[in-house]
Amino acid sequence: MKIIVTGGAGFIGSAVIRRLIGDGHTVLNLDNLTYAGNLKSVASVSGHENYRYIRADICSGRAISTAINEFNPQAIMHLAAESHVDQSIEKPFVFVQTNVVGTAVLLEAAYEYWDKLPGPAKEEFRFIHVSTDEVFGELGPTGEFTEDSPYRPSSPYSASKAASDHFARAWNCTFGLPVIVTNCSNNIGPFQYPEKLVPSAIRTALAGDDIKVFGDGTNIRDWLFVDDHVDGLVLTLTKGRPGRSYNFGGDSECANIDLVNMICDKLDVMKPNPGGNPYRNQVCFVDDRPGHDFRYAINSSRAIDELGWRAEETLNSALEKTLNWYLENPDWLQFSDSYGNRIGMPY
Ligand SMILES: NC(=O)c1ccc[n+]([C@@H]2O[C@H](COP(=O)([O-])OP(=O)(O)OC[C@H]3O[C@@H](n4cnc5c(N)ncnc54)[C@H](O)[C@@H]3O)[C@@H](O)[C@H]2O)c1
Repeated sequence: MKIIVTGGAGFIGSAVIRRLIGDGHTVLNLDNLTYAGNLKSVASVSGHENYRYIRADICSGRAISTAINEFNPQAIMHLAAESHVDQSIEKPFVFVQTNVVGTAVLLEAAYEYWDKLPGPAKEEFRFIHVSTDEVFGELGPTGEFTEDSPYRPSSPYSASKAASDHFARAWNCTFGLPVIVTNCSNNIGPFQYPEKLVPSAIRTALAGDDIKVFGDGTNIRDWLFVDDHVDGLVLTLTKGRPGRSYNFGGDSECANIDLVNMICDKLDVMKPNPGGNPYRNQVCFVDDRPGHDFRYAINSSRAIDELGWRAEETLNSALEKTLNWYLENPDWLQFSDSYGNRIGMPY
């Protein structure tokens, strides 16, 4: 297939591209390289004859339409976004612009292209909109999000993703564009921008700095290995039903403090602190993130039943693969931007 991947220089988009190229597809990576984008994440495939790249902003209708019409895709997988909750507290309107306006611009450009396709190509075209479980808000100690859970976003990030999900559905319901929405839990794996919890904890641990944890660390997240997520997205492309949404979770709930302690304990074995001090001694608690959701958990039964998807990795195996990769690629842990101390930004 010929597939456009937006956000293909990011954490998950690059994993999608590495997989699609490996599977023999032809891919156009459309990414405008924000601070979170890095083409090194696709270096292993960028010399491949089936790989193309264009630097373009999803908010620019003209650039996007030109790229779509010239490439002539059979599918668009939309992963470009501002993706960090803490950044959204600091700069909410960047999130509104990229995640809401950008998604609507992309949907409209895709629709204008799709509407003119001949019969079978029109029938087979897919627009996969990649989103998050955070759109459903927070859970108490029990329960799981299903695809029918009400939308209750708490942060500017999750609100912007929720809005983008609604626009994606609207372009399906109103205009017939064959859109499928996916909502997944926190991804873990190689090539993640080091502002996020896992690479940040590894970086600060190895640097001998404070490993900062929000609040009392009891907030719970579900963790999904990025390649398991990619499996789900590829299955969505081939087997998903337009107009439907699919949840992907790792069935691996963990309190933030327990995850950070797991990272510390594994690093004690994999790369012990030269002074012999256990990395746990560097953990410290900082003021909680405003509006910090308590718990997320995902019910993936629809993806399992309808797409035949299943997460292969446990949290333990995903964490080991992830730690191995960052230890082998320590340069990745260095920021390309510098961050000051500010609200909602302890990592
Ligand atoms: N990382 C997670 O755990 C997670 C969980 C659930 C859902 N998601 C969703 O998956 C998608 C990918 O997340 P990620 O973690 O890979 O994000 P990321 O921040 O690592 O990458 C985002 C990419 O989008 C690009 N981008 C941003 N604004 C753009 C614009 N205006 N035009 C073109 N490109 C632009 C960036 O340059 C970057 O390469 C996002 O939609 C995110 O909301 C992520």
